[in-house]
Amino acid sequence: MATMESLISLVNRIQRACTILGDYGGDSGGAAAASLPTLWESLPSVAVVGGQSSGKSSVLESIVGRDFLPRGSGIVTRRPLVLQLHKTEPGITEYAEFLHKQRERFTDFAMVRKEIQDETDKITGKSKQISPVPIHLSIYSPNVVNLTLIDLPGLTKVAVEGQPESIVKDIENMVRLYVEKPNCIILAITPANQDIATSDAIKLAREVDPAGERTFGVLTKLDLMDKGTNAQDVLEGRAYPLQHPWVGIVNRSQADINKNVDMIAARQREREFFSTSPDYGHLAGRMGSEYLAKLLSKHLESVIKTRIPGITSLINRSIDDLESELDDLGRPVAIDAGAQLYTILELCQAFDRVFKEHLDGGRPGGGR
Ligand code: GDP
Ligand code: NA
Ligand code: MG
Repeated sequence: MATMESLISLVNRIQRACTILGDYGGDSGGAAAASLPTLWESLPSVAVVGGQSSGKSSVLESIVGRDFLPRGSGIVTRRPLVLQLHKTEPGITEYAEFLHKQRERFTDFAMVRKEIQDETDKITGKSKQISPVPIHLSIYSPNVVNLTLIDLPGLTKVAVEGQPESIVKDIENMVRLYVEKPNCIILAITPANQDIATSDAIKLAREVDPAGERTFGVLTKLDLMDKGTNAQDVLEGRAYPLQHPWVGIVNRSQADINKNVDMIAARQREREFFSTSPDYGHLAGRMGSEYLAKLLSKHLESVIKTRIPGITSLINRSIDDLESELDDLGRPVAIDAGAQLYTILELCQAFDRVFKEHLDGGRPGGGR
C-alpha cells in the first residue's frame, strides 16, 4: 500500500508542478507544453457540483477535516478553488500554501479562509459576480489523503440583483468545463430537504457521465428533512441508482458555524446522528463525511491503478519532451520556468521509478 500511496503522492505533485508551470505562461512553452496539458488531464481530481447552498463547501471541508472555506447562504464560492491535499510524514505541522503567494505558509486556517475571500474579491469585486479564474491552494498535513479537490460556484436558476442575466449559463458552463473531463470524479451534492427529482447536480452529472461511472451521489442536510419523511429510498440506491453508493451527510448548520462548533465536535455529532437514527441506523457504517473521504480515496486508488499504463506512457513522453526542451534552453537554466521544468522532470522520473518498483514487487493489480 505504501507504494500505491507514493504513486498517488507523485501524481499529486506532478499536477501541482504542471499548474505552476502553466502559470508562467507561454514563454517557457516549447516542446513540454505539448504533452503537459495532456498529462495534467489524465490525472484524476474530484469536483463538487450542486445548487447554491447545497453544502458543497461544507462537504469539502469535512473531507479535509479542517475549517478553511468561506461558507454561508447565497453565492459565497465565486471562483473555482483547486485544492491539493498532500499527505506528509506524521508529526509535521499542517500548513497551507497558495499558488499566488508561494512564499507564505499559512498555519492559521482562519487566515486561509480570509485569503480565499480576498483573492475572490480581488478578481470579482465585492459583488455577486463570478470568475472562472481558479484559486490554487495546497494543504500539507499528516491527516489528509492525497487528493485534488475542486470547489465550484453553485448552480442557480435565476440571476439575483447585481448579477447579469447570463450568470445562470455562465456558472453552468464553468462547472461543465471541469466535470466533463473524463478524469473528473463528480461529487453530486443534493440537499435532502429539497426535491431530489429537480437536483441540478444529478441532472448535470447524468449529462456528462451518463453511465454514472465517476459520479458519487451525496445527500446533505439529512437533519433538515421534514419530520416523518426520510431518504432511505435514495440512500439504499432504489430511487436514483448510481454505480457508486449514495452517501448521506450531516454538515454543520449556519447556527453551528456562527457558534464556532469545531470539526471534531461536528464529526462526532454526525456519527451520533446516523448511529442513533431509527431511519439510518442500519446504514450508519456507510454514511458520513469520514466514510465519504475513505470511499473517495479508495476509488481514486483504483482509478490510478487502471490508468497507470496510460499515465506511465504520458510521463515517459513528458520526460522525453522535457529533456529536449531543457537541452534547447541550454542547461543549467536558472529562470523559474526552467526550474519548474526540472521539478516536473524529476517528479516524472520518480514516478517512473516507483512504478517499476511497484511492478517488481508483483503487487496485486500491478500487472507485469
Ligand atoms: P455551498 O453554497 O453549496 O458551498 O454550501 P455551504 O457549504 O456554503 O452551505 C450553505 C449553508 O448550508 C451553510 O449555512 C451551512 O451551514 C448549511 N448546511 C450545509 N450542509 C448542511 C447540513 O448537512 N445540515 C444543516 N443543518 N445545514 C447545512
Ligand atoms: Na452558499
Ligand atoms: Mg460554496
